[in-house]
Amino acid sequence: MDIYVDTANLEEIRQAAALGVLDGVTTNPSLISKEGEVDFHAHLKAICEIVPGPVSAEVTATDHDGMVAQARTLAGLAENIVVKVPCTVEGLRACKSLSDKGIKTNMTLCFQPMQALLVAKAGAFLVSPFIGRIDDISGDGMELIQQIRQIYDTYGFETKILSASIRHPMHAVQSALLGADVATIPYKVIAQLMNHPLTDIGLKKFLADWEKIRG
Ligand code: G3P
Repeated sequence: MDIYVDTANLEEIRQAAALGVLDGVTTNPSLISKEGEVDFHAHLKAICEIVPGPVSAEVTATDHDGMVAQARTLAGLAENIVVKVPCTVEGLRACKSLSDKGIKTNMTLCFQPMQALLVAKAGAFLVSPFIGRIDDISGDGMELIQQIRQIYDTYGFETKILSASIRHPMHAVQSALLGADVATIPYKVIAQLMNHPLTDIGLKKFLADWEKIRG
């Protein structure tokens, strides 16, 4: 499973890249707005210079023509930009137009399996089921990942499933077990993935025993 960091913060992206296991980055308008008054395009270019893998950047237009125009501009910023487009009717049309032009899309705000099937037919590179937000309203986000995996495997769709809206390590574990192709994870949660209290206790004991013998 590929690991993307879900942030627009350059320092977090540098820290995640320094781990040596980072495959890409996802941003969205909310994450960009957290960074304050940044120049959107310059900021995206800076992210693309840190991470050579796919960097998702989202359109804000809601109609087909507007989405396609914004997508062309975003895709022109760097070779590794993937354009995020919402899973709406207009977004589906934009996905098809962009795929036909060779522009990669990440179809975002996916909440049900037929959205995922349709965007795969339209040539999406990635689909982003938002599992945390489904759990937030007492749904089962992981069930959506499993359903999309089954549909894509049944029909041989090549669109990659990107588990998004990950809130804690168990979301990442379950995404891996269910065969998500990618998980996009906040930096804080990526760091938690390497933590275990028994690792810390075991290491402390090893070092204490080592010191006894050396002493
Ligand atoms: O990648 C999508 C993600 O940023 C949404 O996460 O926590 O805002 O639901 P969240």
